[in-house]
Amino acid sequence: MRIASVADFREAARRRLPRFLFDYIDGGSYGEVTLRRSVEDLAGIALRQRVLRDVSTLDLTTEILGQKLAMPVALGPVGLSGMYARRGEVQAARAAQAAGLQFTLSTVGCCSLAEVSTGTEKPIWFQLYVTKDRGFMRDMLAQAADLGCPVLFFTVDLPVPGARYRDVHSGLKAGPGLPGRTRRFLQALGKPGWAWDVGLRGRPHGLGNIAPLLGKQAGMLDFLAWSGRNFDASLTWKDIESIRAHWPGKFVIKGILDPDDAREAAAAGADGIVVSNHGGRQLDGVLSSARALPAIADAVGDRLTVLADGGVRSGLDVARMLALGAKGVLLGRAWAYALGAHGGAGVAKLLEIIEAELRVAMALTGVTTIPEIDGSVLARTG
Ligand SMILES: Cc1cc2nc3c(=O)[nH]c(=O)nc-3n(C[C@H](O)[C@H](O)[C@H](O)COP(=O)(O)O)c2cc1C
Repeated sequence: MRIASVADFREAARRRLPRFLFDYIDGGSYGEVTLRRSVEDLAGIALRQRVLRDVSTLDLTTEILGQKLAMPVALGPVGLSGMYARRGEVQAARAAQAAGLQFTLSTVGCCSLAEVSTGTEKPIWFQLYVTKDRGFMRDMLAQAADLGCPVLFFTVDLPVPGARYRDVHSGLKAGPGLPGRTRRFLQALGKPGWAWDVGLRGRPHGLGNIAPLLGKQAGMLDFLAWSGRNFDASLTWKDIESIRAHWPGKFVIKGILDPDDAREAAAAGADGIVVSNHGGRQLDGVLSSARALPAIADAVGDRLTVLADGGVRSGLDVARMLALGAKGVLLGRAWAYALGAHGGAGVAKLLEIIEAELRVAMALTGVTTIPEIDGSVLARTG
């Protein structure tokens, strides 16, 4: 299949990955209302078409959280990526850095912070979940600081996990009928390319950062069970302040959807926030980031670096998020599909596509630099 868009990567990933993995990436929580809204609301944002403004030279570069980036885009944290391609986090991080961008490693990646950091030229960004095991958190923070990670994303929208029906249906989570392990094995047999490349040659499949706690024999389900047990629902803004005090780099709170929480984040000493509903995987029915973003950017945009994610499926969507008030955009499923479809080469191709689309969006809205993409490029109708 010839790939021209994120939708093509999605289809290619669907063909290559066992169902339990494709559905884990593709799905959202409950009725997937927020997931659909995220894509549709963003795609529904109309931009102003402007003409005859000399757009022969475009500058897509930007600086976000002290980092120079080739465009206002980064790979956001996506758990289990080492299951989508062999040592997937390392492949994706290399592709991102080769494109002059940044990669964010999830706490629940298959490759550990040390493995990805060793495999990349520059220090990567790291995402940490709030865990009950404060010793684990302290160790991860110290490790990330030692490895020179300049930016920490602290994800706060998962005090409890939202239910994802697809994970039960696919056998990723326990459910009725054949045991999950058998179902996943049978699905893998139907995808020989993946089974050989990742299933056999991509081991270990555990969660690299958590492996030291659970031992070498732990399987993927042990790791998922650990995550389920260890997310901390008792956390408050007070804890955030003290965690912030122990982190020397830039501190970004991920999972803000309300202007009041954005103000709290600023008061707690954050450098930035990610406007996010966790890709529609948590509280179903909440606003899309596209709808929540303008009020949040108005409330804290002068004090914090406001990033956004959710439903970004093209370079045009990147322009839309910037026009709505974001300084930069995190890709989620877009890069996970690309990695699942064609490994690191897929991620490299995806980033080329996003860049080309962003260029066209800039040229046709009549802007030549990233800071010019603001509310003035939005079409006002009615
Ligand atoms: C398969 C998958 C795994 C994810 N894992 C994490 C994670 O470990 N940590 C985190 O902060 N966010 C995680 N997210 C959320 C993403 O970082 C991001 O907020 C979301 O995917 C954006 O929506 P989009 O995929 O529609 O672009 C995950 C999302 C997906 C799709």
